[in-house]
Amino acid sequence: MAPTRVALVGAAGQTGSSIVEGLLEAGDQFSIVALTRPSSITKPANGNLKDRGVEIRSFDLSGPEEPLVEALRDIDVLICAIAATDQEAQIPLATAAKKAQVKRFVPCAFITVAPPGRMMLRDWKEDIYNHIKRIHLPYTIIDVGWWYQISYPRLPSGKIDYVAMNVPTLIGDGNVPSALTDLRDIGRYVAKIVVDERTLNKYFLAYDELLTPNQVVEELERLSGDTIPREYLSEQTLREKIETASKLYETDLSQAFLKASAEYMLSWGINGDNTPDNAKYLGYLTCKELYPDFQSISYTSYLQEVLDGEAKPVYEDNEEIRSLTISLRESMDGKA
Ligand SMILES: NC(=O)c1ccc[n+]([C@@H]2O[C@H](COP(=O)([O-])OP(=O)(O)OC[C@H]3O[C@@H](n4cnc5c(N)ncnc54)[C@H](OP(=O)(O)O)[C@@H]3O)[C@@H](O)[C@H]2O)c1
Repeated sequence: MAPTRVALVGAAGQTGSSIVEGLLEAGDQFSIVALTRPSSITKPANGNLKDRGVEIRSFDLSGPEEPLVEALRDIDVLICAIAATDQEAQIPLATAAKKAQVKRFVPCAFITVAPPGRMMLRDWKEDIYNHIKRIHLPYTIIDVGWWYQISYPRLPSGKIDYVAMNVPTLIGDGNVPSALTDLRDIGRYVAKIVVDERTLNKYFLAYDELLTPNQVVEELERLSGDTIPREYLSEQTLREKIETASKLYETDLSQAFLKASAEYMLSWGINGDNTPDNAKYLGYLTCKELYPDFQSISYTSYLQEVLDGEAKPVYEDNEEIRSLTISLRESMDGKA
């Protein structure tokens, strides 16, 4: 059978890299095209993709439509995994995909489950979903819960500072379950979902485990032998942060990051939005029903990698996200 031709925007990013790995792991089933903005073509990450058999195609979403349509003419499945703040670029992407008769568009979802109107970041994505539906483009929207890689606190010993993102973990009373996924599993789920007719024009939740923040901290304590101080972030603090940041976020990137992060935490940590039950209520299919035999990475084995010094940090070369995360922590700790 001829391979499914998959094109990916954002192939060198965190989510995009996982997707490339998942597609490559599926062997001859896919041929992969990385649609890369001209300014990034010479980045080492794209050289590495090329060495691994990925075709690199120049693609400028801010340019005229015709070259976009031409670049998509031979594509079966188009996947987008661009940064949270670049979502609008998907409007011309979806329009070009429709004109090129792409068989399925997977827009940049890849976040936690939540209803519309709950989080600014999700609402930006919702604008794209609405555009897709208006132009009648076949789609699959894939959410993935919260990455394992940003789900756990640091240890007092400093032993895992090399990899822990240090974002707040204990929200509310710490007892609200939330779907978690190893970033590396995302691509392996995507490789199954995009060739599955059952997922066409559907929302899909791919997740590995359902855990509460207290369970996360207890597991890290059990494996490390350390005692982790419990610093719970209250609903009231989150609401105050959101209110203040909402006045400033349009002109201040760190306030936008604070607003987006606090809204996320309120959604999964207090409202309990990010669960398979809620996903089903919202009309999603889930991986546990469609792919019961999927061998996901367990949370315990991921934490063991972290403790063994073998885990890979996320956003390693992204200074902007790293410094925004530090200012988020300082704000939540009341230091900024
Ligand atoms: N579920 C979770 O826990 C979680 C965590 C983080 C993020 N996310 C979601 O995952 C999605 C992907 O985020 P990420 O952090 O994985 O991305 P990322 O690492 O920031 O990478 C973004 C990629 O998008 C490309 N890109 C950005 N703007 C573009 C444009 N206008 N045209 C073409 N390419 C463009 C970048 O290419 P260049 O090389 O050209 O810069 C880069 O490869 C986000 O939308 C976010 O909401 C979810």
